[in-house]
Amino acid sequence: MTSQLDSLRKHSLVVADSGDIEAVARWKPQDATTNPSLLLASAQDPRFRHLVDAAIREARGDTAAAMDGLFVQFGREILKHVEGRVSTEVDARLSFDKSGSIQRAQRLISLYERHGVSRERVLIKLAATWEGIRAAEQLEREGIHCNMTLLFSYAQAIACADAGVTLISPFVGRIYDWYRAAKKVDDIPVEEDPGVASVTKIYTYYKRHGYPTQVMGASFRKTEQVLALAGCDLLTIAPDLLEKLARTPGPVERKLSPELARRTNVEKTPLDEKAFRWQHNEDAMATDKLAEGIRRFDADARKLERLIISLGAATAAAA
Ligand code: E4P
Repeated sequence: MTSQLDSLRKHSLVVADSGDIEAVARWKPQDATTNPSLLLASAQDPRFRHLVDAAIREARGDTAAAMDGLFVQFGREILKHVEGRVSTEVDARLSFDKSGSIQRAQRLISLYERHGVSRERVLIKLAATWEGIRAAEQLEREGIHCNMTLLFSYAQAIACADAGVTLISPFVGRIYDWYRAAKKVDDIPVEEDPGVASVTKIYTYYKRHGYPTQVMGASFRKTEQVLALAGCDLLTIAPDLLEKLARTPGPVERKLSPELARRTNVEKTPLDEKAFRWQHNEDAMATDKLAEGIRRFDADARKLERLIISLGAATAAAA
């Protein structure tokens, strides 16, 4: 009997949301996504210690270079198991720094290219702040493809499409988490799930107005959320949920399609900077979650930095 995972693959490209190379190899996804939190977990895993050591060795005592090197080491390994692209995130501390983000993205791409990986196989992940979106707009002109992350509001999605970015990752689970806490409930049924509704609305806007930017639903808490978005261009799914989808038999009904979207009469509403900032700010969930997401990715990147420094010092002492 066909599994839900196989059925889902008929409607959407399935992406692995993981820094665990063995999990990526097992699920054979089209693409894979990483973030600083996922890479912190993998860098602490003894199975991948050789990648951390290689990054430290190549950086010769430069911690920032070791961080970029580590992201690229994991990215290169992951690419051995996917046909498509890997997403590598820019330092969250640059979330409000357009030129700093551009420079860091260029550095990551040149590191990949030095190791023989073409830029076509990498998506640079940037937080979907106004500055991040402007950085992505310029990077796309240089042929560096971007994946806009920490995307919670309609305003963020509209600005990303207008900037011509390759892909956006609207989050589902973190929106669901926020509303669950606000409503003080244990669960929200999928039919009323505000995270699912957010991705559906964004997908409809993009397809209705013919934007080529790909929509990749991200940050899932349960398989029902994934299945409710069947038909979305891509869905990035953590290994535990991939496992559940693979173990559950059944057909999967397509929920999103360009044809359905084109039949809606959703209005085109381009945003300048003032309108973007105002509309995003009107959404309490999105402003909370974007700010918290930047803090969380930064905190995990700092932990990773400390790990690199301590391992580097131990290696130097042993030499
Ligand atoms: C993927 O690109 C995102 O970083 C990821 O889906 C976030 O998931 P989380 O909300 O479970 O951390």
